[in-house]
Amino acid sequence: MDRIDRSWTARIADALELRHFLVPRTPILSPARRRLARALTVADLRKVAARQVPRAVFDYTDGAADEEISLRRTREYLRELTFVPSSLSGLEAVDTSTTLFGAKVAQPFVLAPTGFTRMMHADGETAVVRSARRHGVAYTLSTMGTTSIEQVAAESADAPLWFQLYVSRDRETNADLLRRARAAGYGALLVTVDVPVGGQRLRDARHGFGYPPRLAAGTFLDGLRRPGWTARFLTTPPLSFASLGGSTKDLGAHMAHLFDPTMTIADLQWLRQEWDGPFVVKGVQSVADAVRYAEAGVDGIILSNHGGRQLDRSPTPVALLPEVVDAVGSRLTVGVDSGFLSGADIAAALALGADFVMLGRAYLYGLMAGGELGVDRALEILSAELVRTMKLLGVGAVDDLTPAHVRVPGTEAAARAPFRATRPRPGEHRPGGAQARRTASLR
Ligand SMILES: Cc1cc2nc3c(=O)[nH]c(=O)nc-3n(C[C@H](O)[C@H](O)[C@H](O)COP(=O)(O)O)c2cc1C
Repeated sequence: MDRIDRSWTARIADALELRHFLVPRTPILSPARRRLARALTVADLRKVAARQVPRAVFDYTDGAADEEISLRRTREYLRELTFVPSSLSGLEAVDTSTTLFGAKVAQPFVLAPTGFTRMMHADGETAVVRSARRHGVAYTLSTMGTTSIEQVAAESADAPLWFQLYVSRDRETNADLLRRARAAGYGALLVTVDVPVGGQRLRDARHGFGYPPRLAAGTFLDGLRRPGWTARFLTTPPLSFASLGGSTKDLGAHMAHLFDPTMTIADLQWLRQEWDGPFVVKGVQSVADAVRYAEAGVDGIILSNHGGRQLDRSPTPVALLPEVVDAVGSRLTVGVDSGFLSGADIAAALALGADFVMLGRAYLYGLMAGGELGVDRALEILSAELVRTMKLLGVGAVDDLTPAHVRVPGTEAAARAPFRATRPRPGEHRPGGAQARRTASLR
């Protein structure tokens, strides 16, 4: 009996020792903040988003064209990339900052232009640009933005802002938008070239989603199950393309004029004269086109299949990177987008030669999940993942990511060219950064 008692006392003492490991979590009282804090990845934010907005809104954002083959392939390709780390590299801190078109940014990723952003959350572009400003990230406003050029600029303080143009059939509309964007302090102009006609988005068609957006009976009922979104939607100004003027009922008319299918590269020359800053073409999908745009005198290109929302079965943008960078990387700034959902995805594209990565859905899931706080959460997750990946790779700066850090499916290049051989020996001078990435070939 005496022996048993002593053992119980000892056990209780041991249990009490455990209290040192039981650090109570600070309770998060706001349900919205709690939901966001529990999301550890952008994929988690996507799940939260699906519960916050009506199905038709989620599908408009999440969906892609036709059978969604482009988007699926692009994401699968990113996941097939293998990292090749270097251990004991003696790094304590890493620097994710870079310079894009003369502006210093804290992250090598840029928030992509997206239309109808206030449909995902009533705070729309305002929420996104505020969060981008806090994180030192560049943000691109779309021609189809639901907050005006001037309002977004007013929220951006001095954070880098870019403007995306859908070239309208009406030249005066284009010229007016460019004048306003320049006057409001937008740095770079992105001209989107992969929309001669809208892609066939089957999810939207099945929801009866059109232009102007109509609330089908199903969407209305679904809205009742999403009271937060519905209350905000009904109590804030109706959706419109805020930079183009008009009201919700004009959305359809604007859509009819926004994309000019007769446009040629010669028209780019005209636009180039209307814009005296960095001029970037978004939606390049082949090496041949990249070379044509370089010859036309643009400053940058973005390899993009519009997140799979236009031509289905289109090339995987990140897979084009090595060849495009070989062909035009010494002349142009090269960005890439479509399918990027994590810091590891971003690191892989930078290693393959991209100067920056654009993100669309990754921040929109955050926006739908929790407005401005949700975008903050998405940017926090992505930047922490990027930092961690760089540390695990043994890379201290964005420009030090090289093709030797990634093995592309179907090649053994990195295995053949040992990592150390790609790095300068002590005392050896080599061109740094992006230039080094470009000259290091995968072959
Ligand atoms: C909801 C949504 C709206 C978009 N609207 C535009 C737009 O107005 N202009 C444009 O150039 N691209 C637009 N895009 C394409 C993005 O700029 C970007 O190329 C694409 O989202 C990248 O793929 P990701 O979403 O997988 O990151 C849109 C994309 C989404 C998801």
